Amino acid sequence: MTLVMENGWPRTAAWTGGELRLGGIGVRELAAEFGTPAYVLDEEEFQGRCAEWREALPDGEVHYGGKAFLCPEVVRWLDTAGLCLDVCTGGELAVALAGGMDPARVVFHGNNKSVAELRRAVTWGVGCVVVDSFTEIERLAALADEAGIRQRMMIRVTPGVEAHTHEFIATGGDDSKFGFSLSAGLAAEAVRRVLATTSLELTGLHSHIGSQITDLGGFTLAARRMADFLLACELEHGVTIPKLDLGGGLGIVYRPGDPVPPRPAEVVAALREAVPAQVRLAVEPGRSIAGPTAVALYEVGTVKEIPGVNTYVSVDGGMSDNPRPAMYGAAYTALLASRSSDAPPRKVTVVGKHCESGDVLVRDLPLPADVRPGDLLAIPASGAYQRSMASNYNHVTRPPVVAVRDGVARAIVRRETEEDLLRLYLR
Ligand code: LLP
Repeated sequence: MTLVMENGWPRTAAWTGGELRLGGIGVRELAAEFGTPAYVLDEEEFQGRCAEWREALPDGEVHYGGKAFLCPEVVRWLDTAGLCLDVCTGGELAVALAGGMDPARVVFHGNNKSVAELRRAVTWGVGCVVVDSFTEIERLAALADEAGIRQRMMIRVTPGVEAHTHEFIATGGDDSKFGFSLSAGLAAEAVRRVLATTSLELTGLHSHIGSQITDLGGFTLAARRMADFLLACELEHGVTIPKLDLGGGLGIVYRPGDPVPPRPAEVVAALREAVPAQVRLAVEPGRSIAGPTAVALYEVGTVKEIPGVNTYVSVDGGMSDNPRPAMYGAAYTALLASRSSDAPPRKVTVVGKHCESGDVLVRDLPLPADVRPGDLLAIPASGAYQRSMASNYNHVTRPPVVAVRDGVARAIVRRETEEDLLRLYLR
């Protein structure tokens, strides 16, 4: 039996032989070989999702949002799939290059890139820098001048669109640390200043309205505003601005009953309709590629029943490997993955091992009443913003990422060790 939950589970997830299998391998075997917690990543799902975006926009550019999850092996998959890469720090840029990505296919974002980061981008030949402030326009122009090149770049615009998502991940409204406001006239001024330089080549305008968005309305509105602005700039300055990069933001299903987001082809069709045909489109999906590809695997350590109050099922990870419930109130589901059970379901709270009451992974989860230490729990939709946001809180080491495919499992990010942690301390 395959598990679907409107694709919240990766495509090879199946229930056979009394356990969950991923990429053809049982979770008991995966846990025995790689330990828990671990993120198990379905390679076919990742590559399939890259291909779906690529096919949805054959005449445009797909930049994978590397902040969702990045490591050198993923960079190689992107390369093979013909995707470009969006990075927002020098660290992400370093991983991109370590994975062999051609810097010309990298887009460099960030509202406060350091001068050193900008210099690296210019000297390493990064294909596009997205400027986010007037200070940055000056810095980038000076650095490009110094290097004797014309740096290809875009301007990040805040189009005043409120995405219907958590306020911490909404970025398109006027009151934002990101980009130049359209309504306040700052975006128009940024275009003027860039065109007045000789060392910057304006290849496009960029906007990104937020993340985990499941309806098309905000995308379409932002696309229309950006298209109107682009045409107005072309008219005012008598130039061609070839590209609109409309960012990422497409959401995913985390648990049964979540709204099912549109497919990439539907998103692109809506954007295409809002943007004149001569304008090249670019998108930056992160979560909608990486999110559904990985399942987080945990082992149950203790089960505490407080009669009439609650049952706490504690696992061997928690807010250090998934800070999203604590940060955004994100809701997940989990499955008893290592055996079948006929016990009736009862509601539990799945918690981690950290010294905080807020260290909750899943609330109100019906699990078989006989869940016990040693059982494995699987949390789907764990591929985006979990490993990439994982911390060492309480000196917990970060879990590995294990890629599975056709019955073969291999770590593409190894488990962190206490030695890794101790290496930082000067004694
Ligand atoms: N492009 C830009 C400029 C971005 O800032 C982002 C995400 C993306 C693309 C990719 O967006 P996506 O397709 O993944 O929604 N940590 C939060 C999400 C933060 C998103 C930050 N920017 C979370 O765990 O929900």
